[in-house]
Amino acid sequence: MSVHYARVWGGKALGGSVAISGSKNTCLPIIAATLLTEETCILRNVPQLTDIFCMIEVVRRLGVAVERLDAHTWSFEAKAVAAYADRTFVERFRASVCLLGALLGRNRRASMPVPGGCKLGSRPIDIHLRAFRALGAEATQTSDGIDLHAERLTGATFSVAGPRGSTVTGTLNAILAAVLAEGRSVLVGAAREPEVVSFCAFLQKMGAKIEGAGTDRLAIEGVSALRGADFTIPSDRMEAGTFLILGLLCCDALRIINAPREVLCGIPEILPQIADYCRWEGEDLVVRRGEFPPIEVSAAPYPHFPTDLQPQMTVLASQIAGTSHVRDTIFPDRFTHIDAFRRLGMDIKKTADDTIAVAGKTALCGAEIAATDLRAGAAMYLAGLIARGETTIFQKEYVERGYENFEEKLLALGAAIEYTPLQMQQETSNAGNTPIIFRTDSAHNIFQKTSE
Ligand code: EPZ
Repeated sequence: MSVHYARVWGGKALGGSVAISGSKNTCLPIIAATLLTEETCILRNVPQLTDIFCMIEVVRRLGVAVERLDAHTWSFEAKAVAAYADRTFVERFRASVCLLGALLGRNRRASMPVPGGCKLGSRPIDIHLRAFRALGAEATQTSDGIDLHAERLTGATFSVAGPRGSTVTGTLNAILAAVLAEGRSVLVGAAREPEVVSFCAFLQKMGAKIEGAGTDRLAIEGVSALRGADFTIPSDRMEAGTFLILGLLCCDALRIINAPREVLCGIPEILPQIADYCRWEGEDLVVRRGEFPPIEVSAAPYPHFPTDLQPQMTVLASQIAGTSHVRDTIFPDRFTHIDAFRRLGMDIKKTADDTIAVAGKTALCGAEIAATDLRAGAAMYLAGLIARGETTIFQKEYVERGYENFEEKLLALGAAIEYTPLQMQQETSNAGNTPIIFRTDSAHNIFQKTSE
């Protein structure tokens, strides 16, 4: 178990303002897309996250000239791009899978190890490979990795739907390969997530011809070259959703600055009373704690409730009188966190392969627990903040993959937290293509910023 931890003292009412960072799952594939042009791309509002740093390091190792213009602004210039992505960073995060489509589109060949990422159960890439094959590529997958090769890529009509609905990164990969293919492609069963829409907006700025973003049918007219683009990453709906649930749990008034409108996706269906506890003030969402009847949550592809907020919603369910049900139709095995939740006192039973029943309202009590993945880790902070006494969350580096300055943001809301600092920090550099160095901070270097 890692020595990186956060200690949370719960039971306080929180409140104040929190600004949402750039969207991780929008930014990661967009960095991959910068491989599709020789011209410079500027990305703004890039969140400082370990997954993002890993993706930047992977593209730098592929030959891209990467420059950090300020804390959240980066430039990428891919004059020449290698076809092979080495294992060091690729295996650390899931979105590296998008390099397959980008490298195939750019070089007509790609080779890399199987991507890593949070363990949410089975995460096959058969639909990605099916899409590449439909466009004319030969695709092989072995235990060592994936190889793609195409004499030419030719537009085609194909499906990116799978047994559990559309695939987000599968859709992104198909788009990456199709925008520089010859002729017209039609993607049926495409993912409709806002992250896909923003990704298409970036490619359109680069000169790609894409119609239907946000629907399940995308039409792409291949072009012979793409140009550079300057793009601002929109704010992260999963981070905003996590703070929204925090607000409903324990905040007198929490202002979520620059909340994306999609943050409410699926939530009013689960919590019709949410309107009584949250209101829009311009671009900000102001939330306060509430009392709710039992909820029925079923995570499914957009526009339904997101799987990436399922563990956080389980924490809220534990604070509702009566029995709530939480189901995940996308990742039925995404319940590895319930053992940790039970240690805090939650009353949770598995009622079906993809469903848990949560009985409430339970008084939570601090315990030592370990994050099992990124979103579950964030949910453990929420649980710790409403538990009596001290909760220690180990393996907090999962959370640093997707939440920028999470502890600092919670501290600013009045939370009492002590934590080891960011496990992997980037040595910033403005010197062109200087390697990005990760350093691991000493476990003894504790940031202690507890409040009364
Ligand atoms: C993306 O993962 C997100 N990751 C995940 O975010 C998110 O949980 C997930 O979409 C669902 O919304 C990124 O965007 C980097 P999928 P992805 O392919 O694309 C099955 C987070 O916490 N499937 O949409 O890997 C798959 O098993 C995370 O930020 C196939 O069967 O998920 C699942 O049941 C983690 N074959 C379903 O489709 C395939 O080839 C949807 O998965 C691909 C997927």
